[in-house]
Amino acid sequence: MFNIILFGPPGSGKGTQSEKLIATYGLKHLSTGDLLRSEIAAQTPLGLEAKSFMDKGQLVPDEVVIGMISSALDQNPQAKGFLFDGFPRTEAQSIALDKLLKLKQTEIGVVLALDVSEEELVKRLLNRGKTSGRSDDTNETVIRARITEYQQKTTVVANYYAGFDKVVHIKGEGTVDEIFASLRSEIDQRLSL
Ligand code: AP5
Repeated sequence: MFNIILFGPPGSGKGTQSEKLIATYGLKHLSTGDLLRSEIAAQTPLGLEAKSFMDKGQLVPDEVVIGMISSALDQNPQAKGFLFDGFPRTEAQSIALDKLLKLKQTEIGVVLALDVSEEELVKRLLNRGKTSGRSDDTNETVIRARITEYQQKTTVVANYYAGFDKVVHIKGEGTVDEIFASLRSEIDQRLSL
């Protein structure tokens, strides 16, 4: 089993590249943002709680997202590997993920971190907000709050995995295909070990 964390700030291209990676490597895509939006669409109690945080650009409490990921792992016992997108986002989530994977006798193979300037992130998200209908893309204040949340609470995740020598930084600016080629090269090197 080979498990990947696709890491990076809001708008860095995690969702875009995830689609290509799962098509190429047959991994199960686990995006906490997508899972939370499904809960909101279904108007579940979890979704209603999460929405109040997401609309302000804040992280949803750790126990909520850890519970969701734990269920998703249990629901996919046959997966040949997982691609985590938008998770983990705090050190507590990283520690919880490691424990959950250990129970399944597996671990994170690599953390691929997309590096994109703040100016480019804001430009991409404002642009997507025109058509996506995502409530957290509609104004620059919320977009900047998401980026601040990332800087204050999520960058520690890269430090956590760097301690295990698992982080590779990838230039996240350029064409989608150029970035995908860089990601593939890093994954293929590790798969051929
Ligand atoms: P989430 O859904 O994870 O959103 P995000 O991290 O803010 O990331 P985005 O989906 O906005 O961007 P992306 O990096 O996937 O980029 P994309 O490919 O879409 O989280 C949303 C919220 O849910 C959080 O704020 C939080 O409240 C909550 N949440 C989620 N997970 C959580 C967790 N673990 N803990 C706590 N709370 C959690 O690309 C963006 C745009 O750029 C698109 O329009 C795309 O077409 C364009 N684009 C992509 N690549 C390129 C390129 N190379 N050049 C130009 N444009 C590009």
